Formats: sequence, structure tokens, C-alpha cells
Amino acid sequence: MISRVEVNEVCVFLARPEHEDGAVWNKLWGAGAVLADMMLLEKDWLEDHRLHCLELGAGVGLGGVSACLAGLQVVASDHVQNAVDLIQQSAELNHIDGRLQAQRFNWNDELPREWKETFELVIGADILYMAMACAPVARTIQKALKIGGLAVIVDPGRSNVEQFESACLELQLDVQTCTIKNLNTPLCTLKRCHIVLVRKDKDSTTVAVKKVLERIQNQIELYQRKSDQLVDEKSLGFCLKE
Ligand SMILES: C[S@@+](CC[C@H](N)C(=O)[O-])C[C@H]1O[C@@H](n2cnc3c(N)ncnc32)[C@H](O)[C@@H]1O
Repeated sequence: MISRVEVNEVCVFLARPEHEDGAVWNKLWGAGAVLADMMLLEKDWLEDHRLHCLELGAGVGLGGVSACLAGLQVVASDHVQNAVDLIQQSAELNHIDGRLQAQRFNWNDELPREWKETFELVIGADILYMAMACAPVARTIQKALKIGGLAVIVDPGRSNVEQFESACLELQLDVQTCTIKNLNTPLCTLKRCHIVLVRKDKDSTTVAVKKVLERIQNQIELYQRKSDQLVDEKSLGFCLKE
């Protein structure tokens, strides 16, 4: 099965399992839609910068595929092999297989040596739903992120963000969290959303990473400005309506 999702007027095709078996990895999550919305301003807008991006807990890969369509070189990872196989198919569907690599990775495991301090961006959506993920995700970011890079974790208002912030601070990472009420994108509405930005050293942020950060900050401001608007209660929830 193939889902077609529109992100800022760009069509994103996602290979999906034929049968819905209730597993977390094969749904489309609202936080993933927010991540996609922030990364994919328009097609190829970051192409000149050749930024390397690692997605953690990619699921069906809406965030990673969108980042890749924006022009990034992406490794989309998940610990579920089926998810990885489908993301590889999505890369072909979107004609980005030269730029997107799907790889099985469990954040409780040792980081592959070739990933150490390799990525200017580490992204993840709705990956802090279990408290026990906080420390290993923070550790993975610390090891995978280049100095001057940025990690962007979108959480749909679940309860483990503070624990994640503490885990990052213990590793001497810089953390900044924005909380938005009634976050509306054309794809979803989240009653509360945390956007957590993590850096090794704020002062060394590279010019290309600053461009991504600026886009995210502008988008956060826009979400915040719209947060007083009435929301359609029917569209609330952690998953996208399909
Ligand atoms: C709620 S889903 C979010 C999926 C996707 N990021 C999205 O927004 O649509 C959480 C994802 O984290 C993955 N995950 C859970 N534990 C993991 C681990 N230890 N290592 C890597 N991935 C993990 C799951 O397989 C699932 O795809």
C-alpha cells in the first residue's frame, strides 16, 4: 500500500504495510507530520548545503523522507526491520534513493563507528513515549552529532520530555524546549507539542545549520500565533486521521 501525504505543497509517497497490525512503527504520527512540516519548507531548499541527517525511530519515515526531499542526505533508522524495508521502498517511490539510506538501528545499542560525530542534524518524532528511551536517545545524539550541529526532537505532549532534558544536561548538551498549545498543521492538530532543540555547543552552530534553525524558529512562532484559534476536536490525537 502507498500513502500520499502533502507537506507544504510537496507530495510525499510512503510505502505502508498491506495490513494494519496495530504496531507503533506503521502508523502516521502527528509529531512526524510536525517534523516534516518544519523540515520541508519546499523541495530541495537545503540542497546546496549537503547536510547529513540521522533520523531515530523513523517508523514509516515521514520525517526522514521529507528531510531528504528538502535536500538533506538522510540515514533513516528504526529498530524494526519491516520499517527499514518500507522506508527504502519510499526512497525509490520519491526518487531520492541516492540520498536516503534506511538502516536498522536500536538506540540501546552501540552507535556504528561510521556514524560517530557524522551528522549535522539528528531528528526524531514521538520517540520519547517510553521513559526508558530518554537516556539512550540523549546518548545517541551526543555521539552522532557533529559539533555545530542540531538535534530536533518533536514530542506530542507526552510526559517524558523533562527526563529527556535532564539526560541531555547530564551529557553537557545544550537543550531548549518550546511548548506549543493547539499546534495546527494541515495534517494534524496536537493539543500540546514539545519541540526540543539540542546542541553540543550553541556558539559553534554552522551557517547551514543556522538556516534550518531559523526555519524551525519561524515555524514555532507561526504555530504559537495560531494556538489561540479554535481547533477541530475531532482532529485531535497522536495519530493522523487516515
Ligand atoms: C511513535 S513511533 C514514531 C514513528 C515516527 N517517528 C513518526 O513520527 O511517525 C516510535 C518509533 O520508534 C521506534 N523505536 C522504539 N524503540 C526503539 C529503539 N529502541 N530503537 C530504535 N527505534 C525504536 C518504533 O519502532 C517506532 O517506529
